[in-house]
Amino acid sequence: DPHDRQGFAHFMLKEIYEQPDVVRQCLAAYLKPGWDSDQDASLSSNPFNLALPDELFATVSEIQLVACGTSRHASLVAQYWFEQLAGIPTRVRSASEFVSAPFPLARNTLTIAVTQSGETADTLAAIAAAKRRSSPAESSLQSWLLGITNQSESSLTKAVDYTLPTLAGTEVGVAATKTFMAQLVVFCCLALEFAFRRQALSPQQLAPTIAALRSLPDQIETTLQHQHEPIQTIAQTFANVKDCIVLGRGINHAIALEGALKLKETTYIHAEGYAGGEFMHGPIALLDATVPVIAIAPAGSVYDSMLANTEKAKANGAPLIGITTVTEPADRTVFAHPLTVPAIDELLSPFLTVVPLQLLAYTIAVQRGLDVDRPRNITKTLTR
Ligand code: AGP
Repeated sequence: DPHDRQGFAHFMLKEIYEQPDVVRQCLAAYLKPGWDSDQDASLSSNPFNLALPDELFATVSEIQLVACGTSRHASLVAQYWFEQLAGIPTRVRSASEFVSAPFPLARNTLTIAVTQSGETADTLAAIAAAKRRSSPAESSLQSWLLGITNQSESSLTKAVDYTLPTLAGTEVGVAATKTFMAQLVVFCCLALEFAFRRQALSPQQLAPTIAALRSLPDQIETTLQHQHEPIQTIAQTFANVKDCIVLGRGINHAIALEGALKLKETTYIHAEGYAGGEFMHGPIALLDATVPVIAIAPAGSVYDSMLANTEKAKANGAPLIGITTVTEPADRTVFAHPLTVPAIDELLSPFLTVVPLQLLAYTIAVQRGLDVDRPRNITKTLTR
């Protein structure tokens, strides 16, 4: 029963802890069980089970993603995967902005609407607008409409041609956590299937990524177990701050935005997410000893530049919290408060880096005595 807290103090905490199982369920649905990376014989077969038409995979030349809030942040992670893994130009726009400023029409566009609830008014309006534009006058422009949602019977599923369900189970907490995780799994499988079918990734390159996906549930469990205590300490130290900055680069820029949103909506701290490099162009003026900076810095292509940004933040007096896979003490001395996540390929790191941010937002909100499951001024679904 999703409305039973099962011993957890709040639904948000319960749902954060359900994430390993949510990933297991989504992978069980979207990855073929027989596909074994060690067996050469199976390598040429498609490991995915998304049940979308072959023609879609063959013809799409551009992807446009429309969503709001947390679903938009999942879309920003996906943009990175579609572009960097599959080589497909991809754009993301807030559903509420798409209606008045849609992307120019292009041939063979795949439009993906992402909404946990399947009922968000802005996202439904964006889909309606996308549909009107691809109606008879423009019929020469082949287009595809796909929904990603946690509600398989919803207004969204009625409006689109194809649906990929996120299989997270009902989410009760107003702050989206496990549904975001499930959106990432679905997006990752979709991007990898495009990459595989278009030979952007060979079966041999795909195999370790599939193995890494299968390790995610255990790694999320490890993160939850090991970071629970250090997060309690950090939450006590920073429970009363007014402002907070979250920095990420590359694929973790989207996670910086998502971490800041979680902090805003559950703790009411004025938290802002920035791309590390962009932060230097003005916003760094905000920093002093009262403004903690959370740096998302897993090992990988942007680790050194992230560290350089972090050093500058420290020089301006900011207390530093680091979310990193790096365990060598000498390489993380810059962080007064390091939070370690298991080693993982940078491309898949958002699955892990988001977890300490969810837990930190939750823990600070509880310290502040706030109603985490029902924050002020917002509802679970904005239907008008
Ligand atoms: C997430 O924590 C927020 N409550 C909110 O931003 C939410 O993601 C947004 O309103 C979109 O909701 P949807 O996924 O149901 O469309």
